[in-house]
Amino acid sequence: SFGGTEYDVVIVGGGPGGYPAAIKAGQLGLKVACVEMRGALGGTCLNVGCIPSKALLHSSHLYEEAAHGFGPHGIKADNVRIELDKLMEHKQKTVTGLTSGIEGLLKKYKCDYIKGKGKILKAGEVQVTDLDGNVAGVIKTKNIVIATGSVPTPLPPVPVDEEVIVSSTGCLSLKKVPKKMIVIGAGVIGLEMGSVWRRLGADVTVVEFLERVTPGIDEEIAKTFQRTLSKQGMKFKMGTKVVKGERVGDGAKLTVESVKKGEQEVLDADIVLVAIGRSPFTAGLGLDDAGVKMGPRGIVDVDDHFATNVPGIWAIGDVIRGTMLAHKAEEEGIAVIENIVGKKGHVNYDAIPNVIYTFPELACVGKTEDEVKAAGIKYKIGKFPLMANSRARANALTDGLVKFVTEADTGKILGVHIIAHNAGEMIAEGVLGLEYGATAEDIARTCHAHPTMSEAFKEAAMAAYDKPIHF
Ligand code: FAD
Ligand code: NAI
Repeated sequence: SFGGTEYDVVIVGGGPGGYPAAIKAGQLGLKVACVEMRGALGGTCLNVGCIPSKALLHSSHLYEEAAHGFGPHGIKADNVRIELDKLMEHKQKTVTGLTSGIEGLLKKYKCDYIKGKGKILKAGEVQVTDLDGNVAGVIKTKNIVIATGSVPTPLPPVPVDEEVIVSSTGCLSLKKVPKKMIVIGAGVIGLEMGSVWRRLGADVTVVEFLERVTPGIDEEIAKTFQRTLSKQGMKFKMGTKVVKGERVGDGAKLTVESVKKGEQEVLDADIVLVAIGRSPFTAGLGLDDAGVKMGPRGIVDVDDHFATNVPGIWAIGDVIRGTMLAHKAEEEGIAVIENIVGKKGHVNYDAIPNVIYTFPELACVGKTEDEVKAAGIKYKIGKFPLMANSRARANALTDGLVKFVTEADTGKILGVHIIAHNAGEMIAEGVLGLEYGATAEDIARTCHAHPTMSEAFKEAAMAAYDKPIHF
């Protein structure tokens, strides 16, 4: 049992939504516990998501650079090899270093970390089953925050075994570089993980139901992005649906069908990655019995303050509406605690950046041109190609552009979309601009250091406001 202590808040789930909520609660002097069933803190993101994938993306990029990319700089490296076990060891060390760091942070801020699966019996009561499967007791608490995250969405005709037919989790730990890999879904996971294994030597084909990659991203940017990835050697089968997939010997066979023509084809692969999206995870959480109202597609329904319909039960992160991103979950985790203590926690959903960590990276924030057009808003576009940026030229990293979408009458920034090797860092300026209600002129008149990639950002703003200088 839990010693009869009554908590102010119990957070179920220790991911990038749950653990910052726990820390914030500790900082505000609340009696708080975080229940996590994975055996480690950090959730999907730190254990099998953002962090291990970024380690593999960077390692594989370094390999590709050394093997093929130094040419323009007059550097030749012979006999470049991959030691896959070392590469995986770096990934794993990064993960365990960071997850144990979070354990330290919870201690520092006096949050109790309870290892086990939480089940909500009713408002005010969370039952914990320990990692061995035994009921450890019931925690009494004034508030419960559901932060149970998400899991890969299954594709029923292609069952995952995490060996040959893998989800992102299996794909982060392949034992060898596959000769042929098929990725189902041209979304973020498919393109990031596809890039990792392509760089390491796999022949990668992406099968996508739609006629475009990365749904939700500005169409023009997505087209440019797909062209760039194709140039790197990634193959695409667009407008193609998967009818069946099965393990055959050491590999897999996949039957696919053209959406328009209905023609079928059988593809072979050593590894198939299923990456068609993620679904909220609430299995075994007891939400039905607790009377918590659900929304569409298995999300937990919340109001603008992250409260569910049951007083004292709140929810944040991948398990509620909105994009499934770690930083979005973190913002919500902090806001929900502020709301619990009666402060005004708030998340500005118009200014959440979205980054795809390929090379070059794709990063965006705010509205796409397509959205603005569909909404009938009078808008202006300002674009600047990296080809015209001196730093990009010096570094031989000229693939990409910066695109501004602004309101025609006021010049206010509505969205920024970037393809650049460092787009994920560059986008922060766009996020800040949106948060501050900046206009393109504000950015255009702000001095940016020379020679930097961020001058391309400024020049795209100049293009939206008036004219760029270097294009
Ligand atoms: P989660 O991180 O899923 O955490 C929920 C936790 O709750 C889990 O640890 C789970 O074990 C635990 N849990 C569930 N039910 C219970 C229960 N009943 N009792 C106790 N514990 C429970 N996002 C980005 O922003 N940037 C990226 O670069 C990025 N890369 C990604 C790469 C991959 C391969 C994947 C799969 C995802 C990536 N994401 C990325 C998405 C990101 O991981 C999620 O948006 C984020 O983890 C959501 O945080 P969360 O706290 O809501 O949920
Ligand atoms: P996604 O939603 O980004 O992409 C899924 C893709 O699969 C879409 O293009 C969709 O049209 C396609 N698809 C769906 N059903 C299909 C089918 N039956 N056959 C063929 N294609 C099909 O989902 P993904 O890539 O699985 O990632 C899940 C989420 O994880 C992302 O939406 C994102 O929120 C998060 N994530 C974020 C990252 C980042 O921020 N860098 C990295 C990885 C994941």
